[in-house]
Amino acid sequence: MKYDIIIKGGTVVTVDGQRRADVAIKGQKIAAVGTGLARASSNGATIIDAKGKYVIPGAIDVHVHLELPFCGTTSSDDWNTGTRAAARGGVTTVIDFAIPYGNESLETAFKNWRRKAKNKACIDYCFHMAITKWDKHGPEMEKMVKLGCPTFKEFMIYESEGWQSDDRAIFGALENCKKLGAMLLIHAESSRVLDELIARHHTPKLMKEYGACLHAITRPNYIEAEAIQRAVKWAEVTGGRLYIVHMSTADGADIIVEARRRGVDVYAETCAQYLVLDDSLFAKRDGHLYACCPQIKKKSDQKRLWAGLKSGEVCVISTDTCTFTRKQKAMWKGDWTKIPMGMPGLETLVPIVYTKGVLAGKMTMKQLVEKCCTNPAKMMGLYPLKGSLNKGTDADITIIDPKKRIKVDHRRMETNADWSPYQGWSLAGFAEKTFSRGRQIVDNYKFTGVNGWGQWLPRKRAGKL
Ligand code: URP
Ligand code: ZN
Ligand code: ZN
Repeated sequence: MKYDIIIKGGTVVTVDGQRRADVAIKGQKIAAVGTGLARASSNGATIIDAKGKYVIPGAIDVHVHLELPFCGTTSSDDWNTGTRAAARGGVTTVIDFAIPYGNESLETAFKNWRRKAKNKACIDYCFHMAITKWDKHGPEMEKMVKLGCPTFKEFMIYESEGWQSDDRAIFGALENCKKLGAMLLIHAESSRVLDELIARHHTPKLMKEYGACLHAITRPNYIEAEAIQRAVKWAEVTGGRLYIVHMSTADGADIIVEARRRGVDVYAETCAQYLVLDDSLFAKRDGHLYACCPQIKKKSDQKRLWAGLKSGEVCVISTDTCTFTRKQKAMWKGDWTKIPMGMPGLETLVPIVYTKGVLAGKMTMKQLVEKCCTNPAKMMGLYPLKGSLNKGTDADITIIDPKKRIKVDHRRMETNADWSPYQGWSLAGFAEKTFSRGRQIVDNYKFTGVNGWGQWLPRKRAGKL
């Protein structure tokens, strides 16, 4: 067999373990993984020496918000800068959330999101469909699954955005998921008590005294825990598959273990920021920059989430990338309820997990591949096309030099954020090279891809682990 590219002699890491091997690419697919491929069939192939480097499946970030109208502005990374950032971080597929504007249908939201991504995306992508008007969107779920969108999202907060779902909507969506073989993703925060805590603290005196710290003060862990508990109950009685997005608390992880032990079909992701940042940051001069929903929690929560990744109750690491520039963040003017919520993350997902997880001895390289590449593909119905290095699958590949550290500096990154939560951190794990369907899109840590190369991916039914 004549190959186009052979990645030679790297340490190939998959969920099955790691070994020294060559990876051969033909067209857009992985053609072979084995030893001696370069020697036997190098005629005409481009040989890439990967000795001493990790070769892993491209990471999949299942939780991003590119160009999202939110909090009175629009998230600043669009489908171009966001996916360039992804590529540089070794991410080769993103899943965004198509959220209907006003009373639009799910199908219209789907078309809107496809329009936004087309000609801009540099890596492959797909969408979770956000159900914001239950009576209108519930009946559309079957059509969306047939179209290739088998994952739905409901928010338990964000009433003012017009996105909030009540228990009836969550219960009904889970019933439909059970029937359709789909999965419901939930943003779990308890809105009524949260609103009450916000109202109690929303005084000029407290805002002057506590500033951005009020974001954490008004969201104690029980705000997330109660909402997860309730959503889990609806999953338990309906039998619908539930996936808790951006889980940030130790309490949440405890609820998930317990529910899974009872046989509830529930999964949870966390995000890189909840593993490495804590709420002492809100007291800094620029503390408001770090505001996201749910907010970063305490070191004890970080510890529990790392443990949950190891034992399995947390199955995916994503980013919830929702970038806002300093100017956008400045809209808060001292009132924490007006901060645009979210932060950049795509470019640093794998480096954070590698440096703070693998190098710090909190997880193995195989587990990194599980949580950032293979589990996301399996959970979201992208496997086996994505998430592995198996013969015949898309040649989405990331090469990492385990020794190469780069100091994070937003000025040298692809994201258009003019700040980084990790500014100045020395991180290893950036992609030295990234391949998207056989095409090299990062070389020597620089983006070399093409706008519009990314394709929308129709998906099969949501999978299981
Ligand atoms: O702060 C965040 N997470 N912004 C994006 C919206 C969401 O809740 O995921
Ligand atoms: Zn959310
Ligand atoms: Zn989100």
